[in-house]
Amino acid sequence: MVKPESGFMFTIITGAQFGDEGKGKIVDLLAKDYDIVARFQGGDNAGHTIRVGDEIYKLHLIPSGILLDTRVLIGPGVVLNPIILAEEISMFEQHGIKINADNLGVDAKTSIIMPYHIEMDLLREESRETKIGTTKRGIGYAYIDKVAREEIRMAELVDSERLLAKLEELAPQKEKEIEAMGGDPKIVRDPTLINRYSELGRQFAGYVTDVSREINEALNEGKYVMAEAAQGTHLDVIHGTQKFVTSSSTIAGSACANLGVGPTRVDKVIGIVKAYITRVGDGPLPTELTGELGEKIQKAGGEFGTTTGRSRRCGWFDLPLLKKAIVLNGYTEISLTKLDVLTGIDPIRICVCYNYKRENVDYPPELADDLWDCKPIYEDLPGWENDLTEVKTFEELPKNSKNYVKMLEELIKVPINYISVGPARSQTFKKE
Ligand code: GDP
Ligand code: IMO
Ligand code: MG
Repeated sequence: MVKPESGFMFTIITGAQFGDEGKGKIVDLLAKDYDIVARFQGGDNAGHTIRVGDEIYKLHLIPSGILLDTRVLIGPGVVLNPIILAEEISMFEQHGIKINADNLGVDAKTSIIMPYHIEMDLLREESRETKIGTTKRGIGYAYIDKVAREEIRMAELVDSERLLAKLEELAPQKEKEIEAMGGDPKIVRDPTLINRYSELGRQFAGYVTDVSREINEALNEGKYVMAEAAQGTHLDVIHGTQKFVTSSSTIAGSACANLGVGPTRVDKVIGIVKAYITRVGDGPLPTELTGELGEKIQKAGGEFGTTTGRSRRCGWFDLPLLKKAIVLNGYTEISLTKLDVLTGIDPIRICVCYNYKRENVDYPPELADDLWDCKPIYEDLPGWENDLTEVKTFEELPKNSKNYVKMLEELIKVPINYISVGPARSQTFKKE
């Protein structure tokens, strides 16, 4: 890699749509050039899939750089369920990949998802008249406790005495809240669960680190660091389609704030974009295809949630939403994934603007409530029949798929660096 002009090598990768854009695949592809890959927000609501040969890895917490010779870090802005981390570590060990303090670090301030957070997520979602469709992993309630300054952190998890003391302090309030929500408060002090957490804390003690310090020192030494987002831009808690969002900030600026790295150190911001759009869970999706075609894309793209197994809603490429994602993240380049999925569809439609309140608008209205009322205006392009999954260069693509990519690039005005035509690491090529 050539050293960037800024002198620092800090790359941020985020999802540009509603999650599941193929972040895991692209991070895995690029990680060979990086010394550190760090997750900066979210929790095990994420599901990042990596396919190498016949092996498929589904990662919820461990950053996608782990399969390469890279140190991976979980930052203090993440909410971590230790049971899921333990499962992930043993999944890797079954594949012969050793996870230890040399290749994994977890920040001392990382918030721990407690069993009562999951219970509260379930109870609240059940009682909501209009559902969000959360992943039921306790994410929102773990973040509520972080902001309320009532969280249990990694530093406490790994020290049984501190863990028990903190739980003792928090338990009465949590019990009251669960009772008020119609749940069973016994989960808060369930001895089996507490023992399991203490045990895992002891197991993870060696991983504790100061992520901000590690990353900044690495950058000072001229090392390459990548920040890996979870979820997608329009699920951002501030700028997304509230209330149908997750509980963390998913956009590029959040990587700096959450990892404790100054914005002056960023050299690249890469957006991962699907060649169409999907959404799992509720909320507006203006280009949604509800009929046979939607099902065809769902099947061809294997659009079933990595974390919950739910089917993902599918729609045409939505330019207004992508324009907003480019603004929110400041992308310097885009990786386009799942182009192969559109084979055999004719015509292929691109939503170039919306009709909203009888006017054509090329940028989404600010509120999700208004996005429900946006009617997509499409431009149609001819499709292609040839399978793309063996294509190795841009030149080899069938003419109409090349035109589709060129048209997208013209419309979004950000260079497309990589094109992905299948789930495997090898099914990716540089655009030029
Ligand atoms: P992430 O959450 O952004 O990492 O994405 P997911 O892993 O949840 O979902 C992306 C899915 O698409 C996974 O099953 C990937 O293996 C798969 N995938 C990634 N890129 C491609 C591609 O170019 N073509 C096809 N057909 N599948 C892909
Ligand atoms: P990755 O990292 C897609 C969605 C849920 C729901 C909303 C809130 O794999 O792209 P939450 O459990 O976070 O409170 O749910 O956010 N959601 C995702 N959708 N990909 C994800 O992660 C998601 N993580 C959360 O479906 O609509
Ligand atoms: Mg996913």
